Amino acid sequence: MKAITQKVYGSADVLELRDIDRPPMGDDEVLVQVRAAGVDPGVWVCMTGRPYAARAAFGLRAPRVAVRGLALAGVVTAAGSGVTRFRPGDEVFGTCRTGSFAEYATARWTRLAAKPPGMSFEQAASVPISGVTALQGVRDAAAVRPGQRVMVIGAAGGIGSFAVQIAKASGARVTGVCGPSKADLVRSLGADDVIDYTREEVDRDGPRYDAIIDTAGCRPLSLLCRALTARGTLVLAGGGHDAGGLLGGYTRQLRAPLMSMFTARRLRGLVCKERAEDLEELARLIESGALTPVVGRTYPLHDAADAIRHLAQGHPAGKIILTVP
Ligand SMILES: NC(=O)c1ccc[n+]([C@@H]2O[C@H](COP(=O)([O-])OP(=O)(O)OC[C@H]3O[C@@H](n4cnc5c(N)ncnc54)[C@H](OP(=O)(O)O)[C@@H]3O)[C@@H](O)[C@H]2O)c1
Repeated sequence: MKAITQKVYGSADVLELRDIDRPPMGDDEVLVQVRAAGVDPGVWVCMTGRPYAARAAFGLRAPRVAVRGLALAGVVTAAGSGVTRFRPGDEVFGTCRTGSFAEYATARWTRLAAKPPGMSFEQAASVPISGVTALQGVRDAAAVRPGQRVMVIGAAGGIGSFAVQIAKASGARVTGVCGPSKADLVRSLGADDVIDYTREEVDRDGPRYDAIIDTAGCRPLSLLCRALTARGTLVLAGGGHDAGGLLGGYTRQLRAPLMSMFTARRLRGLVCKERAEDLEELARLIESGALTPVVGRTYPLHDAADAIRHLAQGHPAGKIILTVP
């Protein structure tokens, strides 16, 4: 099969389109013919091995899994003996173990959900990382309730475009923070108000927000707290584009619980958990029309390096998706 692989950490130049064997499949796994794969900042982290702390998970000298990509949508072609849920021919989406930038990938069946027929493979591949992170940020970490004021920073991006819509569907009044070219997109997702961060800072209206979902990752915690109500919740989803040192932009996630001890505000880092129930909940929201994945640019599999270069510029609109013929 064709796959996007790498032997060493580095820029997108280290990626190679190669012919390799199909991945082996365990008893509790299915083999999926990949039709679309999500491109997200985690792919960049695994490709570059930065910030360096990420190498503890991905491999010290080189990535342990040679094929890039985690999120996929596709068709089951074989199922292990312990798989009770899926059969060959089923259309699924979720995360895989062996790299989704490939014609085939193996995935634990508990990390997959059935793809609704009305959802395209491209839309489905956008959900597993970004949609799930947004859902867990809005529903679990911030526990958003109807009538609350919610700010989403990075509102046009992969996570943000889901978070705006999920907060709206939860009955919140939503302010989206984005660059000037994205205001119309963010309003079309349901945002009641938009802040162009190149002209105004997020604390422009004082302590107003019950919850802030920050996916952009570059603002000091003190600045974000100035925009929160006295008992508001800050959810830090992103690390921004500082990949230097051991932790890059993720030092805020470490400082947040400490700072929480000295204020009634709740400051929490978010680590997305891969759960089939959440994929299913997002599929229901999408089928009901309450949520529409924003598929931004799509690239064919062999142009994966260009897709990652575009992502690394830091300003994608919606999700970047690879299509696999
Ligand atoms: N916590 C978790 O479990 C988890 C899971 C997945 C991803 N992440 C992390 O979450 C972050 C966001 O992921 P993503 O997929 O949403 O990334 P993305 O698709 O690249 O979106 C980031 C958005 O931030 C906006 N942005 C850039 N600079 C900004 C600034 N100064 N102020 C406000 N917005 C700014 C960009 O658009 P414009 O500037 O054009 O508006 C872009 O749309 C990444 O750091 C990623 O590693 C965390």
